[in-house]
Amino acid sequence: MFRKLMTVTALSLLGASVQAVSDPDKVMGPDECAECHDVETSIWEETHHFNTFETMPASDEGVDIAERMGIDDPVEAPLCQSCHLTVMGEGNDAEVIAGVSCESCHGAGADWIDVHSEEDKPADQVDAIWAESEAAGMIRPGNIHALASNCLSCHIVPQEALVNTGQHTPGSDFELVTYSQGEVRHNTYHSEDNRPASIEKQRLMLAVGVMVEAERALRALAEATNADGDYATSMQARLKHAGDRIEQYAEATGHPDLNAAAQNLATDVAVGDAGLNAIADNLASSAKNLSVTDADLAALDSFLDQLGEPKGDVYEM
Ligand code: HEC
Ligand code: HEC
Ligand code: HEC
Ligand code: HEC
Repeated sequence: MFRKLMTVTALSLLGASVQAVSDPDKVMGPDECAECHDVETSIWEETHHFNTFETMPASDEGVDIAERMGIDDPVEAPLCQSCHLTVMGEGNDAEVIAGVSCESCHGAGADWIDVHSEEDKPADQVDAIWAESEAAGMIRPGNIHALASNCLSCHIVPQEALVNTGQHTPGSDFELVTYSQGEVRHNTYHSEDNRPASIEKQRLMLAVGVMVEAERALRALAEATNADGDYATSMQARLKHAGDRIEQYAEATGHPDLNAAAQNLATDVAVGDAGLNAIADNLASSAKNLSVTDADLAALDSFLDQLGEPKGDVYEM
C-alpha cells in the first residue's frame, strides 16, 4: 500500500513537469476547427493520432504499461493524456474529447481562432495578423522549428520512469519529412491536391528536425539518473544517430548553423550532467536560426533521396 502511494505521488510530480502540449482551458476541439477545415478533418480521422483515443486504452500493452506505473486508467492519467489525448474544459469540467488532435499540433485555439480565420486578409495586415496569431499560441505549419519541437515533445519520451519502469517505448524512430508527408499530410486548404511540402521546406524539415532531435536527446540525458537503463542508453543512441547526420549535413552544405550544431555536439556526454542543457540551448538556437535561413540547401537533396517511404498512406484526393 505504502509503495503504491509513493508511486502515485512520484507520478503526479512527473505529470506536472511534462511539457503541456495544449492548455485544456484554451482547447476548442476538432469539431470547431472542422467548421472551416472539413477536408483536413476527414484526413486526420484516418490517422494513428485520431485512433489512439480508442486503441491505446484498449490495448493490452497500454494496460500493462499503466499497471507498471501504478495507474488504474490511462485515460484519466495526466501522464498518458499529455501525449495520447486531447483534454478540453476548465478545472473539474475538463474532459478527454479526442486523441492527438488539431490543437495538439497547431496549439490550443481559444486565443487565435478568430484572429487567423479571416478569408482574404487585407495585404497591409497579413503579417500583423499572423504575428498576432502566433503570439496567441498558434503553431503555424510554416514555422518549422516550432513544428518540429512540438512533434518531438511527444515522439521522444522524456520520462525516465515511464521508460525504465513502465517499459514504454523511449519514442519513435522519428524523422520529420517522412513522418509529416505520409498519413499526417493534409495540405488541402491552400490547394486541393494534398500536395507534398515544397522541396525547400523538406530540406529545412530534414535539417531542423534532426537538430531538434539532438537537442531533446541531450535534455533527456541531462535528467537521466540511471546510466545503464533503457532510457539513458536509448537516448544516447538517438543522440549519436542525430549527431552523425548533423555532421553529414554540415559537411555537405557548409551552413554556419549546421556547423555550429556539429561543433556543439563534439563534446563528451555524461549521463545526468545538468550542463548538457547549455549545449541543448545552443542547438535550439542554431535550429531556430536555420529554420528561417534563405540559404540554398540543395546539397541536402541526396539525403532526402535516401529517406525511406513516408510514414503511413497519403490521403488521396
Ligand atoms: C471560421 C473559419 C475557421 C475556423 C473555425 C478555423 N479556421 Fe483555420 N483557417 C481559416 C482560414 C480562412 C485560413 C486561411 C487563412 C489565410 O491563408 O489567410 C485558415 C488557416 C489555418 C491554418 C494554416 C495557417 C498558415 O500558416 O497558413 C491552420 C494550421 C489552421 N487554420 C488551423 C486551424 C485550427 C487548428 C482550428 C481549430 C482550433 C481552425 N483553424 C479553425 C479558417 C478557420
Ligand atoms: C512523452 C509522450 C508520451 C507519453 C507521456 C506517453 N506516451 Fe505512449 N506513446 C507515445 C508515442 C510517441 C508512441 C508511438 C511510438 C512509436 O512510434 O512506436 C506511443 C505509443 C504507445 C503505445 C503503443 C501504441 C498503441 O497506442 O497501442 C502504448 C500502448 C502507449 N503508448 C501507452 C501509453 C500509456 C499507458 C501512457 C501513460 C502511462 C503513455 N503511453 C504515455 C508517446 C507517449
Ligand atoms: C500531427 C500533427 C498535426 C495534426 C494532428 C494536425 N495538423 Fe494540421 N498541419 C500539420 C503539419 C505538419 C502541416 C504542414 C504539412 C506540410 O507542410 O506538408 C499542417 C498543415 C495544416 C494546414 C495548412 C494546409 C494547407 O493547405 O496549407 C491546415 C489548415 C491545418 N493543418 C489544419 C489542421 C486541422 C483543422 C487539424 C485537425 C482536424 C489538423 N491540422 C491536425 C500538423 C498537424
Ligand atoms: C501530443 C503528442 C503528439 C504530437 C504533438 C505529435 N504526435 Fe505523432 N503520435 C503520437 C502518438 C501517441 C502516436 C502513436 C499513436 C498510436 O499508434 O496509438 C503518434 C503516431 C504518429 C505517426 C504514426 C506512426 C506509425 O508508427 O505509424 C506519425 C506518422 C506521426 N505520429 C507523426 C507526427 C508528426 C509529423 C508530428 C508533428 C507535426 C506529430 N506526430 C506530433 C503523439 C504525438
